[in-house]
Parts: sequence; C-alpha cells; structure tokens
Amino acid sequence: MRVGILTGGGDCPGLNAVIRAVVRKGTMFYGDSILGFLEGWRGVLENRFQALDLDSIPGIVHRGGTILRTSRTNPMKQPDGVDRVRKTFAENQLDALIAIGGDDTLGVGLKLYQAGLKIVGVPKTIDNDLAGTDFCFGFDTAVNIATEAIDRLHTTAEAHNRIMVVEVMGRDAGWIATYSGIAGGADVILIPERRIDIDQVCDLLKRRHARGKYFSIVVVAEGARLADGADQVTQGQKLDEFGHVRLGGIGSTLAAEIQARTDFETRVVILGHIQRGGSPTAFDRVLATRYGVQAIDMVHQGEFGRMASLQGQRLTSVPLADALGTNRKVDPELYEIASVFFG
Ligand code: F6P
Repeated sequence: MRVGILTGGGDCPGLNAVIRAVVRKGTMFYGDSILGFLEGWRGVLENRFQALDLDSIPGIVHRGGTILRTSRTNPMKQPDGVDRVRKTFAENQLDALIAIGGDDTLGVGLKLYQAGLKIVGVPKTIDNDLAGTDFCFGFDTAVNIATEAIDRLHTTAEAHNRIMVVEVMGRDAGWIATYSGIAGGADVILIPERRIDIDQVCDLLKRRHARGKYFSIVVVAEGARLADGADQVTQGQKLDEFGHVRLGGIGSTLAAEIQARTDFETRVVILGHIQRGGSPTAFDRVLATRYGVQAIDMVHQGEFGRMASLQGQRLTSVPLADALGTNRKVDPELYEIASVFFG
C-alpha cells in the first residue's frame, strides 16, 4: 500500500518514535511505501512530502520534535481545502493517511474521512486531555521535566524564604500540573478544572508558614482561571487557524496577588516549551512505538475513521468521532490525593 503520514499541531516528544514504528512495520512487514507529509496538513495541501524508508529512521527514537516538522494549518479554513487534499491523495495514489495529532489535527482527519478519504488517527497532546485514550505519549516526558524543575526550585525557594509559582502547560485540563505537583511535592496545585480561590490559596500558604515552613511551591496550569469570573490569561488576542488564543501569564498574575496579600516574597517561573523539547522518556518511547505499530496495523485491517487508543494496558482503536470534541479532565480522585499535601 501507499501510506501517508503527518504530524500536526504542537510537537511533543515521541513523534519520531511513532514515525519510526510506522515506517519499520509498514515497509518490513507489509511492503508499504510511506510518504511523510511535511508540516502537518500544510504539506498535504501543498503536496510536499519526503519518501520514508528504512534509511530515514535510524537514530530517531530518542529524538524530540518531529523529522516531518509540524504546523497548525487547517485545510477546512480554505474553500478548496478538501479538494486539494483529495488531489494529493490521487496524485500520489495514496491508499491511506495516518494523522498524528490532537483534537484539531484529528478533527480535520474526521472531516476528511467523512468526505470519503481513508484516515487513521494517532492521539497526541502534551496536555494528555484527549478523550478516547488513557495516555498520550509526550505527557510523561513533560511531567518529568516539570518535576525536575520543581525539585530545583525547591532548593532556591528554601534558600531565600520565597514562594515559587511554577506555571506549566495545560490549556483545558491540569494533568501536567497535577502529576508534576504530586511528584514534586507542591504545596498548592491549581488547574483549569477548578477556579482559583485566591483567598484560599493565601490561607493555605499562611497556614504552612505558621507551621514553621518558610518557603512554598505553587504549581499552576496555564489555563487555570481566577475565581472572579475572569477569563484565561493570554498573550495577545491573535487566534490560530483552529481558533485558539496563546495562553500564558496566569503564574505572574498569581505571584503578584500572593505577594500583595501575604507579604511573602514571591517569584514566578514559566516553564513553557521546555516541557515539549528534548528526548522522550523511555515510557514515552515505548508508548509512541506501540501507537505507531497499532496505526499501520489499523491501515491494513481497514480500520479507517478510527484512532489508536490505549485502554488500560492494551492498545486498541476507537472511532475518531467518539474521541474528539470532549476534553478529558483530571480525575477528581487524583486531585483529592494531591490536595492532602496542600498548605
Ligand atoms: O496543546 C498543547 C500545548 O502545548 C498547550 O499546552 C499550549 O497552550 C500550546 O500547545 C502552546 O502552543 P504553541 O506551541 O503554538 O505556542
């Protein structure tokens, strides 16, 4: 078969491991030709690709980023977008396309499938909030990076009697904040699922200091909102092609409020894209490899319009339509466990 593959949306560690697995199993076991479309859906619209064979994949399992590069291009924003994708399929005699991406990239995949094209999805988001699967690759790496940062911030916070506010990624769900906060021993964790009650945060910090502690760590997800009905803190108003604004800055707002209300000296660290860069953890390399093998197997089993999915310990597949549109929130029980250590 002739199979296309693309990586769309924000990158995350493990993308190359998925590509490697698709190419390896596709070419060695099925005799496929694999076409790697460049820069997400943009490459499909513009018919730009590179042929991927066994010589393309050595030494990439541990590399972050994506050898195919990525973009947030949305073909549905173009009046002739679907026709151009169809043309690329026809010109390259594509039998199927594997799209690796989150809600946006796979949302396009679903529309193209509904338009008659053979699409298989692989779930990807550093935020780990895609419905239809239990874990996305890249998340474990981000959690480890954030946890290491929190560990480092502990010693400097302690040396200076400071509050350190650490802002991590997480637009609509606070998975990275909750996991890294628990692992790093955070004193308060704030997530998009629960409005921030600034009085309560300050009370927790004062209570901790009254117990003789002279420093604290607050972890906040970038998508968390203050309780007073405020919107998410953003960096400008510009929207990407999927209608998303750039988040970032809640940590600074929070740090200023905490210092003003408690008089504890407070600093903010915004981890940003450091969480998405560099080598994937061993866990993510294994998970991404499993997703890649599952995706090419799905192509050969004719499981189109579906997404590879991890359910418990098992790789399976679910309809794209079931996986998209709903956001997988942090399990309240997990957050309750985290909150045992607050204040
Ligand atoms: O959706 C994944 C994510 O990493 C979010 O956590 C973050 O808000 C966003 O992407 C950042 O996007 P960009 O790389 O375009 O700045």
